[in-house]
Amino acid sequence: MSLHIGAKSGEIAETVLISGDPLRAKYVTEKMLTDSFCYNEVRGMYGYTGTYNGKRVSVQGTGMGIPSTAIYVHELIHEYGVKKIIRIGTCGAIQPELELGQIVIADGSYTDSATHLQNFRTMDLPAIADEKLLSQAVEVAKKDKISIKVGKIFSTDTFYHDNGNRWERWTNNGVLGVEMESSMLYALASKHSLQALTILTVSDNIITKTYASSKDREQASLAMMRLALEIV
Ligand code: HPA
Repeated sequence: MSLHIGAKSGEIAETVLISGDPLRAKYVTEKMLTDSFCYNEVRGMYGYTGTYNGKRVSVQGTGMGIPSTAIYVHELIHEYGVKKIIRIGTCGAIQPELELGQIVIADGSYTDSATHLQNFRTMDLPAIADEKLLSQAVEVAKKDKISIKVGKIFSTDTFYHDNGNRWERWTNNGVLGVEMESSMLYALASKHSLQALTILTVSDNIITKTYASSKDREQASLAMMRLALEIV
């Protein structure tokens, strides 16, 4: 057991899918895994281990935002020896042509996070995806004809903000979307030799002001979940 995860030693697989929404962790498990069991209910942050195509995998909710994500990623690495983490989440697109449901794979993430700066500033860690996982995901997408966009995202500490145009500069710099977790996942991955990749489904487009329902967000896209599970 760790401070926030109730699993016994050995109950968590070496590869873990993480999701901000713990109900998405439950949904993926019910839809895609066999022989699954729940190893964590602490704080309602569900965690499950099961099997996908003969491979053992866990799925863990992390809550929203960098501080919460950092707690779970830290404990997965340090207390449970996890070697590979694939985030499956949602993002707000900041390129007008990106439609709801589009899958985005983050090869790197910018951030405005103070937490990130506190931890890593002087170490200047790059928040980039694991190259091997990224190329595996691109290959699976090609083989299974899943439409993906690969590029930079932005991990923010603030969902609501006074400045309605705050993403303009990032849109102009080609950033695909905004979420609240990945820069910390990637920074912790570089620091601890963890393989990490973020795969997202566009749940809203901040530029065109289109939004998915909370149920659609919970269930996101099955294609994203399959993509993540195929590279476990
Ligand atoms: N902002 C930040 N995080 C998000 C958003 C957003 O618009 N949509 C999904 N995750």
